[in-house]
Amino acid sequence: MPRTPVGRETDRVDGRLKVTGAAEYSGDYRATDLAHAHLVTSTVARGTITGIDTAAALAAPGVLRVYAAPEPRLNLYPITGPLAGFVENYLPLKDTEVRFHGQAVAMVVAETPEQARDAAALITTTYDTRPPRTSLADEPHVPAGPTLSGSPSSVEVLAPGVGSIDDALAASDVVVEAEFHQNIQHHVAMEPHAILAVWDGDRVTIHAGAQIPAAFALGMSQRLGVLPQNVQLISKYVGGAFGARVILWSDTPLPAAAARELGRPVRLVLTREQMFTLTGHRPELTQTVRLGASRDGVLNAVSHRSVSERPTTVAFPMTPAHNTTDALYRTPNLHVHAELAVLDIPGSRAMRGPNEAPGSFALETAMDELAVATGVDPVELRLRNHATAHPVSGLPWSSKHLEECYRVGAERFGWSARSATPRSRVDGQWLYGTGMAAAIYPAHRRPASVRVRLLDDDTAVVSTGISDFGTGGQTMVAVSGADALGLPLDRVTPEIGDSLLPQGAPAVGSSATHATVPLVVNAARDAITELKRLAVTDEASPWYGASADDLRYERGIVHGLGRSMTFGRLLRVVGSPAITTLAESAGDADPGYVHHSFGAHFCEVRVNRFTGETRVSRFTTVADVGRVINAKAARSQLVGGVIFGIGHALLEENHLELTTGRLTNSTLADYLVPVNADVPDIDVVMLDRPDPVLTGPLGDGSEEVGTRSLGARGLGEIGTVGSAAAIGNAVYNATGVRVRNVPITPDKLISL
Ligand code: MOS
Repeated sequence: MPRTPVGRETDRVDGRLKVTGAAEYSGDYRATDLAHAHLVTSTVARGTITGIDTAAALAAPGVLRVYAAPEPRLNLYPITGPLAGFVENYLPLKDTEVRFHGQAVAMVVAETPEQARDAAALITTTYDTRPPRTSLADEPHVPAGPTLSGSPSSVEVLAPGVGSIDDALAASDVVVEAEFHQNIQHHVAMEPHAILAVWDGDRVTIHAGAQIPAAFALGMSQRLGVLPQNVQLISKYVGGAFGARVILWSDTPLPAAAARELGRPVRLVLTREQMFTLTGHRPELTQTVRLGASRDGVLNAVSHRSVSERPTTVAFPMTPAHNTTDALYRTPNLHVHAELAVLDIPGSRAMRGPNEAPGSFALETAMDELAVATGVDPVELRLRNHATAHPVSGLPWSSKHLEECYRVGAERFGWSARSATPRSRVDGQWLYGTGMAAAIYPAHRRPASVRVRLLDDDTAVVSTGISDFGTGGQTMVAVSGADALGLPLDRVTPEIGDSLLPQGAPAVGSSATHATVPLVVNAARDAITELKRLAVTDEASPWYGASADDLRYERGIVHGLGRSMTFGRLLRVVGSPAITTLAESAGDADPGYVHHSFGAHFCEVRVNRFTGETRVSRFTTVADVGRVINAKAARSQLVGGVIFGIGHALLEENHLELTTGRLTNSTLADYLVPVNADVPDIDVVMLDRPDPVLTGPLGDGSEEVGTRSLGARGLGEIGTVGSAAAIGNAVYNATGVRVRNVPITPDKLISL
């Protein structure tokens, strides 16, 4: 038995429960006297409801209630404070205004889900309609505003004496200019959004998938007008999220409000079609990248402008150059600018590397175009422009091994065997080629708290209200707890996914692991200190009266003065059932550094010259993500990220019908995501170089357990940053066709 599971391949602690179906997701929970809700959604994008005919639905079998806009009985309230900017700015079913196609206009509650759905189909709604604003070309445009991390969405750095970015570009030997477009994409988590609400007096228990359980519960308490401590959100198993469950949606409080009004528990499960309009999307986006360089490819000027959408109800204000173009390469002149078009479409939300995946598609495609224009190998081009200080702030990175990612990846992939000439490799009816791209993703610090309990049965419980939506977060808590306490994994019980637990790090922005692990270490260290204090201060302890310095804790056992005792036995001897400690962090970062993870992707594609079909045939990803906590789950995260990249590059888009504001591909038959047949074996390498700064000093390993930072960085999204560009670059190498409008569907390649 190794002393620590850190860095090993650890099976998910909840794996057996998941594959046997024993893990309960939100829609699986039962309640006595449960009633079922079904939503009716608008069929116009903008206007006013003039009437909703509910008579037939009310007369239908099993129907208990029909709530229809403007509905006076639901008693919902606005959300105020820090959450306000992240939720829809209207109360569901409250007024008669229609803000987007697919907005909830009525809700039926019945004895069974089928009765609710049948009755919902009997409801007819009439509208006064107005033409919706649906195109990114529609004015007005507004600045994207500060990014979520607080920096401005427009940044300019100019070398001394340079008047403008245009001047810098004009003075460059080689200029590449490229415009990119992508349609709306969706999170499409496997688990449908489901909410179950059970009231007990003025207290409500809610089962729902949430990436930030505490914030979700706080939002629900505000919407329902009850005290925050009276809302418990249980979100133990979550079947995917990817941004769509960052925070509550407009429909989320409806079953809870109905349950209160009706006096029965109510469950609402969205249909797959409803999820496309009620749970967000990655915004439509146009990007223009201009690169100016010397003839040997050294960047002199970089410009990245974007136009995305700001739905009127709630928006993810996309700034695709932030943490990509404003961070990745050394350049004396840099300009990034993001603006948004105000549109009457469903609310948007962060999705899968929200800025970084789309932003890196543009930047890393443009870099490939610069490689072609200068004749410099794409890997060499990136090495020539490698940044050792952040191009805007000038700060050093806490840890950066990007050059090693390029080198290791190129070697493993066999990059040197590549032909730089497009269309030069043919195998029967298949053209094949290779491409690469760099990856960068910020390591955000987040507030978090972790509780450790040492129990008198020699087990420990590590508790933190994070969400594990498939990431392996629960296992990460167990692995880091086992490491910090020197215990075997099966003696550590992780507790997550409940808003009443100590507030966990948000499972957003690839940050839960590096926010949580150091706090597990700190709480464990404090528990060991407390254990020793108890040992020398409790009269029943054999060490009573000794000095805590005489004691040593190792692998669950206290040693000292010729005696040894497990912590559980010590607790039993002194009659104390548990030692409990809490570690908290405000999530402050060291201001002397910038923090990112890095990676390099190498891809081979085969493109059928008659059908235009693109198959990804080989893929190597090398990731610099700090210390790896669980090699198995980490690899799985990175593979998942690359699969998202395949979707982004080749398959995923929803077409917005401009005249009606309707999202036309809102089923899983029409909105394509990669399936196993679309995914080759993905070769993943993690450099496993601990970050010495991000989460505190690493120590030299000689310390007692529970005193060293592990230097982990999150890795949820780095796999998807750049992977779509690597695919597109390989398609160019295979075919000679540069597709800047993803997904790269066969129609864009068919004239080969
Ligand atoms: Mo993620 S897109 O930060 O939820």
